[in-house]
Amino acid sequence: MSSEDARSSLIEQVRERFGARAVLTDPADLAPWLTDWRGRWHGRADGILAPADTGEAAAMVGLAAELGVPLVPQGGNTSMVGGATPPEDGSALVLSLRRMSRIRSIEAGSAVVEAGVILADLHTAAADQGQRFPLTLGARGSCTVGGLTATNAGGTQVLRFGTMRALVLGAEAVLADGSVHNGLSGLKKDNRGYSLDHLLIGSEGTLGVLTAVRVKLVPAITSRAVAWVGLSDPQRALALLRAMESVTDRIESFEILPEAALRRVVEHIPAARAPLQGAHSWHVLVEATSTASGSETPEQLLQRLLEDALADGTAADATISSSEGQAEAFWLLRDSISEAERASGMAAQHDISVPVDVMPRFMVEAAQQVERAFPGTEAFGYGHLGDGNIHFHVRAPTGAAAGWPEGNGKAVSRFVHDLVTEAGGSISAEHGIGQMKREELARLLPPARLRSLQAIKHALDPAGILNPGKLIG
Ligand code: FAD
Ligand code: MLT
Ligand code: ZN
Repeated sequence: MSSEDARSSLIEQVRERFGARAVLTDPADLAPWLTDWRGRWHGRADGILAPADTGEAAAMVGLAAELGVPLVPQGGNTSMVGGATPPEDGSALVLSLRRMSRIRSIEAGSAVVEAGVILADLHTAAADQGQRFPLTLGARGSCTVGGLTATNAGGTQVLRFGTMRALVLGAEAVLADGSVHNGLSGLKKDNRGYSLDHLLIGSEGTLGVLTAVRVKLVPAITSRAVAWVGLSDPQRALALLRAMESVTDRIESFEILPEAALRRVVEHIPAARAPLQGAHSWHVLVEATSTASGSETPEQLLQRLLEDALADGTAADATISSSEGQAEAFWLLRDSISEAERASGMAAQHDISVPVDVMPRFMVEAAQQVERAFPGTEAFGYGHLGDGNIHFHVRAPTGAAAGWPEGNGKAVSRFVHDLVTEAGGSISAEHGIGQMKREELARLLPPARLRSLQAIKHALDPAGILNPGKLIG
């Protein structure tokens, strides 16, 4: 059977067994799911398979394995690395988990959540029970728990609660042959060999299709305060974080951005307003929270800590939210950077990490080195300073030809990744490898680690039907 006939046969069999809702083939329905969020990769697919439960997902993967049809698992399609975009040659079908959007159970400290649950809906469901799922990020209105788990996503609350790996207590997944792994029991101790759950976290759809996860919940916060701080350089920003961390464990977020990024947010995002009078070279957003009504509120805590920072010159200016509305307004500025950057023209994007204490110097020196080596470019980093993870963007020179990031911009990316590697860092801190960084991973990953990844992929998906062309496949 030709591969085209195999895809048609899979679509027909799925439609026959699970009904019209389980398959989309209308080009208008498919279109939004065949291009990535940044609009850089454009795939083709004859159809999207959409299981309603784990049984249907297992049957679909089993049929695909029999027919040799590759599948691209997909959640909210917010990947920053083209991870959920099918190949251009139309050889794969998309397997969308969005219909699997039930919260199966919530108890004290954990919830069992299907892969298609949108992150914002998980936040609401946990809050309704007086609890909290602490991980959050700018795409929370559309990204799914399956996608977050498959990319081991980070976001803006990692400082205190870690990435998805720290928050996933177990996973249910369909493996490449259609069998189901069920790790949802919530066992605190289980040493029956390698952890399949942990192999699946961060596997980017290449080892299995996540159908549900048990996530950790923490107590709801009773109050929070958000401060916006202006300062002269990233070194002072890290000094401020270290000073804060030495006296309290209530700092949940510590995000940095340069003046130019703030300006672009104000320019492109309606309702965005700069919080401080006057320009500062760098800005920091700090959030403090409380889960109990103690004597010092988060607002008083930040006030006290920032008075010290202003007095000793670490900070140049600062303002603290006086209402929940103002806190949200500060967060809107931070969470809109990606959107403002997307609207500002072509850039080569890098999601990188180096040891936290090295980052302030790295982000300044790397920007200077890139701008010197590639005249006309503008380089800057923003993001999760407290995690040693920034998004390092290099804007294309004025007049650069369309497709610059995939063309001349590739040399810039190699240059940046070499600097990161020399500094002992990672070329993918939180977004994953997808199709964007596949070649760079193969070029820079230490051989022993690369061979191990290849061996794991081959062992769990010998026919290579899960997310071909991504990460390692
Ligand atoms: P998709 O984009 O659909 O898929 C992502 C990857 O996971 C693909 O490889 C896909 O094949 C795989 N996948 C999806 N679902 C499954 C499943 N059920 N089983 C197996 N594999 C699956 N990321 C961060 O880490 N931190 C941030 O701060 C952050 N901010 C963002 C802000 C914006 C505005 C946007 C657009 C994205 C941001 N991201 C961030 C990137 C992105 O990784 C996350 O939004 C999220 O992890 C992706 O979820 P998704 O459901 O959209 O997954
Ligand atoms: C962020 O922190 O805003 C994101 O990870 C997305 C980005 O790279 O812009
Ligand atoms: Zn980020």
